[in-house]
Amino acid sequence: MNRIFSGMQPTRQLHLGNYLGALRNWVSLQDQFESIFCIVDLHALTLPQDPAVLLGNTREVTAAYIAAGIDPERCIIFNQAAVAAHSELSWILSCHTPMGWLNRMTQFKEKAGKHRENAALGLYAYPVLMAADILVYKATHVPVGEDQKQHLELARDIAGAFNRHYDKDFFPLPEPQILGEATRVMSLRDGTKKMSKSDESDYSRINLTDDADTIALKVRKAKTDPDPLPESVEDLEKRAEADNLVTIYSALAGTSRQDTLDRFAGQQFSGFKGALVDLAVDKLAPISTEMNRLMSDVGEIDRILRRGADKANAIASANLADIKDIIGLLRP
Ligand code: TYM
Repeated sequence: MNRIFSGMQPTRQLHLGNYLGALRNWVSLQDQFESIFCIVDLHALTLPQDPAVLLGNTREVTAAYIAAGIDPERCIIFNQAAVAAHSELSWILSCHTPMGWLNRMTQFKEKAGKHRENAALGLYAYPVLMAADILVYKATHVPVGEDQKQHLELARDIAGAFNRHYDKDFFPLPEPQILGEATRVMSLRDGTKKMSKSDESDYSRINLTDDADTIALKVRKAKTDPDPLPESVEDLEKRAEADNLVTIYSALAGTSRQDTLDRFAGQQFSGFKGALVDLAVDKLAPISTEMNRLMSDVGEIDRILRRGADKANAIASANLADIKDIIGLLRP
């Protein structure tokens, strides 16, 4: 059976990269797969968090999932800390993962910075917890943005190592699903950097909760070059910022980058930006309105998460029991 698992960290607000690279794809995939969508609050702990803010963000990300179109009746939506099997399997898998594999992870190197000795052990072990998230449900497909590709390859390696060690075909090797035009949305201020929640400048990203005026301001201030839009996508190759805006437009419009160029070739970016603002507001305003509505009834969000956690727990604890039997861990 095909089963999707994916998740987002409840750190700060979700942005257009999270939406176009992942969340929007989840919405279309929920019709084809049994789907489990997690708010990965344990992953958020790898960097310092304020307790009240973390709690609020967990509910807000839940609201964003639902507002974007994830149906809590058909899909399982829950927060990671509510299902203990993630942490338990993470320990088990960490005992099957050579440190050399983790040393290759580029995201750890970026996030730990120069003072690696001061980085938390959890930041280093983060990809093992991510593997556990996926494997505890024996998920077959994982829709993510491109920045998660290396972590997913590691999850496949860990699953393969476990299967070989116990000579069992137990874990499916999860397939990454990196879909659509915008698998890597770049910063609006620097087309060589990923759009990211951790960028100091709020002008580098469009948040799902930004209002129309803020979106307009950010798009107007977005970096571009002086040339007009070119005729073909090959001509965007050395124009990172131009390429990014064309990519964002195309992803929001549901067309290819070439279709966008066919329409706007020869026009200046000032005009194109106006069309981009209209489109972004048109697509994002209903999501932020619905998020606000959902956030006005936190009790209902908590009920959805509790129901999701119950269903997730049923699957995860049955799989964990099988895993313990395979390993030889005594169960009461
Ligand atoms: P996170 O919270 O950083 O991002 C959530 C999702 O958004 C995608 N994404 C982007 N896509 C395109 N352009 C961007 N600029 C951009 N920024 C973020 C990410 O690829 C991701 O799909 N480790 C994960 C969370 C996680 C997870 C998992 C995902 C934990 N366990 C198990 C899948 C399966 C993370 O930090 O994503």
